[in-house]
Amino acid sequence: MKDMYILGIESSCDETSASIVKNGTEEISTVISSQIDIHKDYGGVVPEIASRQHVKNITIVIEECLEKANMGIEDIDAIAITYGPGLIGSLLVGLEAAKTLAFIYDKPLIPVHHIAGHIYANSLVKELKFPLLAIVVSGGHTEIIKMTEHYKFEKLGGTLDDAIGECYDKVARVINLEYPGGPKIDKLAKIGNKSYKLPIPLQDDSYNFSFSGLKSAVINLVHNENQRGEEIRTADLAASFQDVAISSIITKVKKAIINEGIKNVIVAGGVAANSGLRDAMEKLTEELNVDLSIPPMKYCTDNATMIAAAGYYAYLDGRIAGLDLNSKSQDTLV
Ligand code: KG4
Ligand code: ZN
Repeated sequence: MKDMYILGIESSCDETSASIVKNGTEEISTVISSQIDIHKDYGGVVPEIASRQHVKNITIVIEECLEKANMGIEDIDAIAITYGPGLIGSLLVGLEAAKTLAFIYDKPLIPVHHIAGHIYANSLVKELKFPLLAIVVSGGHTEIIKMTEHYKFEKLGGTLDDAIGECYDKVARVINLEYPGGPKIDKLAKIGNKSYKLPIPLQDDSYNFSFSGLKSAVINLVHNENQRGEEIRTADLAASFQDVAISSIITKVKKAIINEGIKNVIVAGGVAANSGLRDAMEKLTEELNVDLSIPPMKYCTDNATMIAAAGYYAYLDGRIAGLDLNSKSQDTLV
């Protein structure tokens, strides 16, 4: 088969990104315009502002990506687009840009689920081995997905309420850390002691998670300490929270690896950048003798390279969309 160059476009949340990837594994060029600094002032992503920023950025980002690759759109074989899940207004901006290019230049349009993108970020690093377990942890997702072959996904479990990244960000806000608080809690956790007692979430036989109880426990603890005039030891609270949150994931992942005969574990999504999770996953996979892959930091958070990489395998699976493709704010990965 001849080399295939896919232009990926991602705009599901607060990053406008375009990348060109060769054969699903080699990044040729990438551009990311992040809106973090704009949303910081509001303590989280404001959907309306996010969509407007995407409108401002999308053409510039795509043009810059082609320029960096020294390629024209005629050199591109197909266009991969995140159709969902995410913020509907944000998704629509990327989708309309992708559809317009596909229509004008007569290129196949490949619909990519955002989580498939996070999983395939790993194919930029290492070949995926099956049966594979993908732990998808981000601001919007906490899911355990099993794959027995390329582009076949089976959800084993997921969060029943908050996503882990969302929980990190909300806990961070209570202790006055700037958005996105996840990385800041991670940093503090390294220097703190696990001296606060917090409830361990959902210890049952399923592969599901629950983080809202843990989040509420932290909020109540901070509130009570404040009322008593006690100062919060933020690093200790971060360490205690991280310990409980990460252990609850590790417990379920361990069970899934053993019960499902898993050979390869990959961790995907923004929270894959978490040092506590990385360390714990390394220890666990070593103990159970399975392969672990975690993408480098730049591919952990939202980017179009992962969308173009997933798009290649989606294309091989025959997933081509018509121009009636629509964005979906919610959608399960199948
Ligand atoms: O995948 P992502 O870029 O966007 C979504 O699709 O949600 O993930 C962003 C999330 C945020 O909640 C952020 O706080 C969290 O990932 N995050 C972290 C770390 N780095 C990013 N959470 C904990 N520890 C980190 N080191
Ligand atoms: Zn994401």
